[in-house]
Amino acid sequence: MKHFTSVNDAGDIDKLVLEALIEKKFPFANKELGRNKTLGLIFLNPSLRTRLSTQRAAQNLGMDVIVMNLDKEGWSIETKDGVVMDGAAAEHIKEAAGVIGQYCDIIGVRSFPKFQNRGEDYSNEVLNKFIQYSGVPVISLESATLHPFQSLADLITITELRPHPSIPSPRGEGKKCKVVLTWAPHPKILPQAVPNSFSEWMLRANVDFVITHPEGYELDSRFTSSHSGRSGGASAKIIYNQDEALKGADFVYAKNWSSYKEYGKILSQDKNWMITNKKMALTNNAKFMHCLPVRRNMVVADEVLDSPVSVVLHQAKNRIYSAQVVLKKILQSL
Ligand code: CP
Repeated sequence: MKHFTSVNDAGDIDKLVLEALIEKKFPFANKELGRNKTLGLIFLNPSLRTRLSTQRAAQNLGMDVIVMNLDKEGWSIETKDGVVMDGAAAEHIKEAAGVIGQYCDIIGVRSFPKFQNRGEDYSNEVLNKFIQYSGVPVISLESATLHPFQSLADLITITELRPHPSIPSPRGEGKKCKVVLTWAPHPKILPQAVPNSFSEWMLRANVDFVITHPEGYELDSRFTSSHSGRSGGASAKIIYNQDEALKGADFVYAKNWSSYKEYGKILSQDKNWMITNKKMALTNNAKFMHCLPVRRNMVVADEVLDSPVSVVLHQAKNRIYSAQVVLKKILQSL
């Protein structure tokens, strides 16, 4: 593995999940692998889970870790090529990424969308320029469009907790579990990265995958249709009626996102989409999932989040092992 920015870098996801579960069982088995290697974690946006879980994963592998909040602690960065730098930006990303690559063996980058221009956001300029100019492997800590470590952690969680145990989801065998990704209301404009990413991972997993959201919240079809892998040619089932979608679900994954079509707009704040006990009663005793952070009593009611059906901490713990298995594979390829 060279870089890790999407499911397309993951290879066989069943094998990757199995390897992650081995890392979880024996977290220090590869403690020598990362000796004298340094991971740089570069944040242009806030983080709790990604920052701490990726550090913990690197430490389990014996790596040193450097963390920098580049947006607050570094020089202001220019990303466009060929500009006259007579404005606020003091340093070009070519030099910044190149320099960080001199200090680190692997670099993680978090860069959210700016919501000014969909095409620019979806080009993932910052992440791609780190890949272009750093000269070392780059892992995405959430880009404008995708959050692959979160999705891998989510798939590990589903594999562990699925009601029809067939670990690691043997190809086409056994009863598939039903996974429903549901939009939920939120007061702020949020990216589409988590739902885009979850969708493309679920389309390659051995599950029945349904997305439910109000009209206008359709995701970019590049992420809700699969052209490769096990589900090549398959698409997520979109159901606009949330109650209908939740029927028989084994996992309910709630997440807010802003509109992709009317880019960055909040089209609905309908509280009827919040996940409550009444909604969960429509399911097949489903587990409740969310990537966190979550707004209580906006996205999900306390009664669900504080109940045994909530597996959000289990998901958060698996962020360590999703990062660890990927870092292990990259270290093995250095
Ligand atoms: N789920 C997730 O990525 O959390 P943070 O934004 O806190 O890293």
